[in-house]
Formats: sequence, structure tokens, C-alpha cells
Amino acid sequence: MSSPAAANITSVLKETRTFPPPADFAAKAHIKSQAEYEAMWQRAHDDPEGFWAEQAASLSWFKKWDKVHEWNEPFAKWFLGGKINVCYNCVDRHAEGARRNKPAILWEGEPGDTRVLTYADLHREVRKFANVLKDQGLKPGDRVTIYMPLIPEAAVAMLACARIGVTHSVIFGGFSDTAVADRNNDAQARMVITADGGWRRGKVVPLKHNVDAALDKSPTVEKCIVFNRCNQPVAMKAGRDLWWHELMATASEQCPAAELDSEHPLYILYTSGSTGKPKGVLHTTAGYLLGVSCTHRWVFDLREEDVFWCTADIGWVTGHSYSVYGPLCNGATTVMYEGAPDTPQKDRFWAIVEKYKVNTFYTAPTAIRAFLKWGNEWPQKRDLSSLRLLGTVGEPINPEAWMWYHEVIGGGRCPIVDTWWQTETGMILIAPLPGAIATKPGSATRPLPGVVADIVDKQGRSLPANQGGLLVIRKPWPAMLRTIFGDDERFKQQYWLQVPHVYFTADGSRRDDDGYFWIMGRVDDVLNVAGHRLSTMEVESALVHHPKVAEAAVVGKPDEIKGEGIACFVTLRAGNTPTEELKKELIQHVAKEIGALARPDEIRFTEALPKTRSGKIMRRLLRDIASGRQTTGDTTTLEDYSILAKLREEEE
Ligand code: PRX
Repeated sequence: MSSPAAANITSVLKETRTFPPPADFAAKAHIKSQAEYEAMWQRAHDDPEGFWAEQAASLSWFKKWDKVHEWNEPFAKWFLGGKINVCYNCVDRHAEGARRNKPAILWEGEPGDTRVLTYADLHREVRKFANVLKDQGLKPGDRVTIYMPLIPEAAVAMLACARIGVTHSVIFGGFSDTAVADRNNDAQARMVITADGGWRRGKVVPLKHNVDAALDKSPTVEKCIVFNRCNQPVAMKAGRDLWWHELMATASEQCPAAELDSEHPLYILYTSGSTGKPKGVLHTTAGYLLGVSCTHRWVFDLREEDVFWCTADIGWVTGHSYSVYGPLCNGATTVMYEGAPDTPQKDRFWAIVEKYKVNTFYTAPTAIRAFLKWGNEWPQKRDLSSLRLLGTVGEPINPEAWMWYHEVIGGGRCPIVDTWWQTETGMILIAPLPGAIATKPGSATRPLPGVVADIVDKQGRSLPANQGGLLVIRKPWPAMLRTIFGDDERFKQQYWLQVPHVYFTADGSRRDDDGYFWIMGRVDDVLNVAGHRLSTMEVESALVHHPKVAEAAVVGKPDEIKGEGIACFVTLRAGNTPTEELKKELIQHVAKEIGALARPDEIRFTEALPKTRSGKIMRRLLRDIASGRQTTGDTTTLEDYSILAKLREEEE
């Protein structure tokens, strides 16, 4: 578990470039100036209940709330006494109004097949599938696992659950049968919704096959509904397994949206971060929906005609909040793509941007660094002129990757919103409002209205500007997790007892003289070199600043003199060869960029870095390799096991 034992972190990153919002962008934006942002932030700070109540008028309620907020540290409730339905807000109210024939989902499969679901189409599908779930005996509060490829039916399944008050637990399609079984058991799921398979790099991921193995170990699961995506032969167990299309063929289209309490559990999402046993993060109804819809509107400066593409899989919180619930609640058009970014070629994402004239593109730094490594020719072959706004999430973005994104993808004209948040926070908490806040490469900039973020020492005392410390959130916000499913004690321990009376994020950060937040990564990853606590992210940024480097991961290794030495794992940009010369050059480069303090002790070239399935570098595993230890921790979230073996070979 992350411990804030030592809080201070020395910051060495020197980044001084700033990019004010382009004047034409600001002129049309929802929030047009820094002064407007500051007034909004102050208003929310001075009267949070009044502020959120005002925002909540954008949702459709069956019954208005009696009380905006109740806080029994660390348990929050929002909009008490209110009755509302997430699916109604995301689908019905648009399908019954002017957006009836507007595309809700523009979908493309990896093989190139496409589908468009208007709000009217989505309305029909969710009502029918909600009836399918009811016909199978599901009741409000029951849990259902969704283990599907990124196809429209995944969103239909989520929304249908929300429509009748069933709590969904989406599991990323890359997880193994054991991971599925563990999560089924923890959630005591009654049903699994899956597909025969999904396309990934030209092959079929055998989802149903994995579910079969998982269900041997999941005693609570009674039924399994299977969507036929790939025409794969699958085993269907009589009495348990049912075809989606057969059930839908006879399902009624009449299904009123249930009038649910504001605090009704909407979903569980298992998160492991890079350490420890998965935790079932629980999100509820009204506060979550309000948080994701407001932040989707503010941060992505949504316009009615926008084509919005968040590339995340719905197995992650980013897919929940910004592919499905946020955009649909706002009546937007959301793009979904099933497959890999390099299939059939390394320009697949840019081909999709060109084809659908995507306006807002939201992805992860790990993807940006892969694009950077593949080279500029891929995006340059495509027309990206429809883009007006870019976003990132998931990890700190190195300033050089930010600059590449800005210039090569954004053509120098698109603001970049670097959005800091977590599975637990449900919604974006720190990010620039693109018409109001000047950006700085590598900074998530300032907290959104309603968010009181701070940087503190382990006693919870605020630290002055430019001093690295622990990132905490001082006040509850509507989309915050309510607990860890079935484990209130762990919820308290993990998030509320480490630093007194505040939400502990487990991230390190500093704030500059302008009040901008610079996230330094997980506190667990901090290096301890000769009495200085350094952020791995800052050393990595210095490495990525070298023109030959695509990606770097930095970890500590035991050093008798310094406490910890610095080991760097480096992947090179296309066209460069690893040499001893280059190692020396990189060591010099870091020493020059940051100072002798951060001089690497060791550079290792590698073809790839071990990452979680959501793209985060698993530094814990690299620490084991750098210090010659066997890996003992949990590796179930590792994306590609062969990378570990390769890294060990390179060592020999
Ligand atoms: O360490 C931070 C990093 O990702 C963590 C949250 O991971 P997860 O729950 O998987 O959610 C990812 C999608 C919201 C954070 O604690 N992180 C996320 N966004 C950023 C970031 N680090 C720096 N900058 C970001 N923009």
C-alpha cells in the first residue's frame, strides 16, 4: 500500500513554455477566460452545495433532491432524496427530442465494418436489452459482469443495466479467466454478458472461451448472454448460456426507466493500479452522472456538432466516463473503435480521425509515445484538419511527447487538455479549461470548479509553491467513489487515514508559482538518491527530451553509497541503434539537463517496457530486474509477459 511516510519530493523539471488559448478558440468557448474560470472556481469553493445544485439542473430528474450533500467522513452522499435514471439521461431525453436522429455512437470494427447508432436506435436497443435482463430475473441491486469487445453492444449492456438498476462490473477483454472469476466472486455477479470474441490485431480474442473457464470457478453466476461478433464456434451450455440475438428477437421495446435513488449503485470497476489486489471501486448514480457530464462539457468544451473520440476501452474508467456516460448524457456523438492502433497499419487512428472528421481526440501518453516512436510519416499521410482539441490521461505526459502531440497531431493549433484523475475520482479533477487556461507542457494545470486540491506533507500541512509533496483533495466532489465494494475498512485505510481528513491520491505533485499542478507519478515510485527524493517522471522526461529516445522508465536500485542508484530502461525512436556510445551520451544528457544529482548509474536499451493492460509502466517489475531480484508481486495486470523474459535476457 502506498505510504506517505516521507512526503517531500525534490523537483528538477525545468519547463517554461506556455501556450495561451488561441483567441478564436477562447471566443467560442463555454468558459472564455482565466477570470471567468477563477470566478467559477471561487463560487464553487464558497458555496459548493449551491454550485452543484445549479449544475444539477442540467440533468433530468423524476423527483428533485431534498438535500444536496451529506458528509460523514469518509462517506459521502449527494442529492439525497432525489430520483433519477442514468440511462434516461443518456438516451431517452435525447431520443425523445431534437437529437432523435443524431448519431450517438459512430463505431468501427477492426476489420473495417462500421455501424452508426442514432439516439433513436440506441433507445430501442437499450429498452429491448433491459427487458432481456429483466426476463432473466435480474432485479435492482444485482451485479452483472460485462466482458466484451469494444462494440456498441458493450455500451448497450451498460446502459440497459443502468436502466433497471442493475450494477455493472465491466472487465477489460484482455484479462484472463482467473481475473474474471476473481471479480465475479468478489462482486457476487449473477450474470456474465460477453461475446464469442473480439478482433485484435487480425486475431480473435476468445472471450467466450475465457468465460467458460471463469464460470467453472464462479459459483454465483447463473446465466451467460453471448453476442455473436466474430462467428466463432463456441460451446453453449444448456440452461446457462443464451444468445444475445435470440433473446433480442422477441424482447419488447416497452421498458420504462426505473426511478432510482440518487445514491443507487451504478457500477463497480476493479482497479489494481500497478500494485496489490484489485479493489472494486463503487460509483453511484446522480453525483457520478453530474460529475462526468459537467467535466465532459467544460474540459472538452463540447459543441453540439462535435465528433468526440476517447480511445479508451470501456474496460477502463476513462471509457465509462468519457466514451459512454459523459458524452451520451450531453447528447454528443461518440466514436468507438474496436481494435489496435497499428492494424492494418500504424495510421489506423489517423485514418479514423480523417474519415469521421473527429474534432476532439482523447488518448493516453503511452499511445502518444508509441506514435512518436513509429514516426511522423503515419499521421502526415492523413488529413487531421478536423481536430480542434486534444486530450491526454493516464500518466504524466513528458513535455517532449506533449510538444510532439501539439505539433504533429494538433498542427500547432489545438489546445491540449492534460487531464488528471483516477478510477476512484470518477471524473476529471485537474485539467485546463481550453478556452480559459494557458497550458504548459507536462502540467495538468489547475483544479476544476468544485475541486479543492492541495499539496501537503504527511501531516496534511500545505506545502509552499515549487515543493514536491503529496497530492490530496480536501473536499468531497459528486463523482467520488463511495467505498470499495464490500470493504469499507480498506476504503478508509487506503484513501482517508494516511493523511488526516483529506482524500489521499497516492500521487506526488508540486505546484508552481502560477498555482499549476505538475503531477510527478505515484509516491511509491519516488527515487531516493543521496538524500533527495526525486520523481521518476522527471528523470524520464529528461531522457525523452533526447532526440533518439521514444520512451523511458526510471527506477531505483540499491546503492551502498547513495541509498539508491538510478537505473534507466530506454526504448529508441525508429531508425536508431543501441550502442555503448549512446548510453554514455544519454547519461551525459540527463546530467546536463537535470544536474549531477540525477546522473543515471545505468542505461539499458529495450524494445518494449512492461506495462499494465491500460498502458501504465510497471516500475515495480523493473525495480526487481534492476536489482537482480526475482519478481514476487502480482503480475496479473501485466500486458505482455514476454517482455519480462526479454528484459532478463538482455541482462545476461
Ligand atoms: O498516477 C495518476 C495517473 O493515473 C492514476 C490513476 O489511474 P487509473 O485509476 O487507472 O485511472 C486512469 C484514468 C483516469 C493517477 O493516480 N494519472 C492519470 N492521469 C494523469 C496521471 N498522472 C499524471 N497526469 C495525468 N493527466
